[in-house]
Amino acid sequence: PVELTDLVREHVREIPDFPAPGVLFRDITPLLADGPAFGALVRGLADKYRGHVDAVAGLESRGFILAAPLALELGVGMITVRKAGRLPGPVVGVDYALEYGTARMELRPDTVTEGQRVLIIDDVLATGGTGAAAVQLVERSGGEVVALAMLLELAALSGRTKLDGHRVDSVLIY
Ligand code: PRP
Ligand code: HPA
Repeated sequence: PVELTDLVREHVREIPDFPAPGVLFRDITPLLADGPAFGALVRGLADKYRGHVDAVAGLESRGFILAAPLALELGVGMITVRKAGRLPGPVVGVDYALEYGTARMELRPDTVTEGQRVLIIDDVLATGGTGAAAVQLVERSGGEVVALAMLLELAALSGRTKLDGHRVDSVLIY
């Protein structure tokens, strides 16, 4: 909905040259720090998915901040997709390429039930590597990915192409 887009646009701060020279960083901390705005965001997201999801999967770290209140608002559980080495086993893991180097996300498959309808949520869709890894982990664990919900999508990085065949709902696209 348009109101959510405006809400996010009005509360995201643009920080030049962070974390490296030439990068324009979109910072969501002003949105999180504004209680009414954060609440409206979570309720607005919940209204989009109510009745259609059985669990919300958050991507560490900033995805957790969104996934937990959204899961509570929807009355469903939260699944944690974590950076390598943080979860006790057994885990499934996916390695993926970063601009420089590689990263790995992991999930305990016993936190997903067979056929469960899972909404994946994160703050930013950039190259799509993190989201694509999360899709694989949820599907390998028996879940069905209903959609990926992103607050911000950096369209120039074409992350959506890595998520082909999946619904991607970005609140605000740059
Ligand atoms: C950021 C962001 C997404 C990911 C997007 O996380 O929160 O999870 O990068 O990038 P991609 O689409 O290119 O994969 P980061 O790894 O900075 O971790 P953080 O949430 O712990 O800060
Ligand atoms: N903001 C926040 N997280 C990010 C960004 C950004 O602009 N780019 C990649 N991850």
